[in-house]
Amino acid sequence: MNRITANRTENITPFHVMAVLERAKQMAAQGHDVIHMEIGEPDFATPPAIVKAGLQAISAGQVKYTPAAGLPELREKIAVFYQQRYGVTVAKQNIFITPGASGALMLALAVSLNAGEELLMADPCYPCNSNFARLFDVHAKTIPVDASSGYQLNAGHIRRHWTTASKGVLIASPANPTGTLIDDVQLEQCIQAVDSLGGCFYSDEIYHGLVYDRPAATALQYSSQVFVINSFSKYFGMTGWRVGWLIVPDEFIDATEKLAQNIFIATATPSQYAALAAFDEDTLMELERRREVLANRRDYLYGQLQRLGFDIAIKPEGAFYIYANCAKFTDDSYQFALELLAAEAVAVTPGKDFGNHQAHQYIRFAYTQPIPRMAVAMQRLEHFLTTRNSTTR
Ligand SMILES: Cc1ncc(COP(=O)(O)O)c(C=O)c1O
Repeated sequence: MNRITANRTENITPFHVMAVLERAKQMAAQGHDVIHMEIGEPDFATPPAIVKAGLQAISAGQVKYTPAAGLPELREKIAVFYQQRYGVTVAKQNIFITPGASGALMLALAVSLNAGEELLMADPCYPCNSNFARLFDVHAKTIPVDASSGYQLNAGHIRRHWTTASKGVLIASPANPTGTLIDDVQLEQCIQAVDSLGGCFYSDEIYHGLVYDRPAATALQYSSQVFVINSFSKYFGMTGWRVGWLIVPDEFIDATEKLAQNIFIATATPSQYAALAAFDEDTLMELERRREVLANRRDYLYGQLQRLGFDIAIKPEGAFYIYANCAKFTDDSYQFALELLAAEAVAVTPGKDFGNHQAHQYIRFAYTQPIPRMAVAMQRLEHFLTTRNSTTR
């Protein structure tokens, strides 16, 4: 028998940062003090009330399957959250609890796109989005974006790149890796453009809540005919619990339910019970404190990277990333990341993990470390840049 991997795996891109991470682990094992600025998860622990609710659920034997769409009380809480935070009414039937935003993205694309159709998205963007499309033999059509549109798609991009094969548009705001927020008017215009073209609009809102200058609008403020992807991972500090949600338009409810039953059966039950405590007053106050910590870190890192000569076209307004142009120092940011790690034990993510557009000129820094720790990283980075420049001169 000829056992080979399926063709579809050939188009799925690996995480290049894994090579950095692997090397970082080896260095740590050799006693190096590696500073991790490559990791896309907050350094904060899950808020105590959430942990307590999860442990209580396990002790009380809440370890059986839930309905495929999720715990009714959690879906209800999410509906109330939309009313309170955005003033938007969402019926609980449209909300599906999923294994993280990853599960939500997978369900959303599976339920609405056919093989051979195109899904438009920005380049740079979170790499798994395009890989999920490829998994379903959907063509991930990436559109180069820059600072002029806030590293986000606008209605002009959508109309210019739309073809007869196009079926949907995906945006993420705040975005990974740029941390930029789509402008409210731009968001509304994108939704209208996709609607008039007869396509589906997918809004990845996983970094909502982690915004530092202005609130982020949900796509649901402009239309009830959109797919919204969200998660307890980032803002709520629950990355490893694997719980998120998907909101679907009415006509997709039945098919989404059928897919969820078959693909996941259900999201992890203790995690769903834990997430019930995510909207408690105390938890939300704690999350607000964390948001302020992240805002200070953002300001610190932004100032430091600029001081060192990195070009940052837009001050990021959300998530916990800065996408810095390092063209002044290198024309190969992947090599730069590997050398920085080897020389100074600072780990960062190379641009090529997020697409092709000028990727070799960019590095993503995550401010998922306290300021004193980042200060050490900045000293090391400065040392790296000065010694590197003098040896390459
Ligand atoms: C933009 C974006 N969407 C989705 C995800 C997936 O998150 P999760 O599956 O942990 O909810 C991530 C994770 O980094 C992300 O950055």
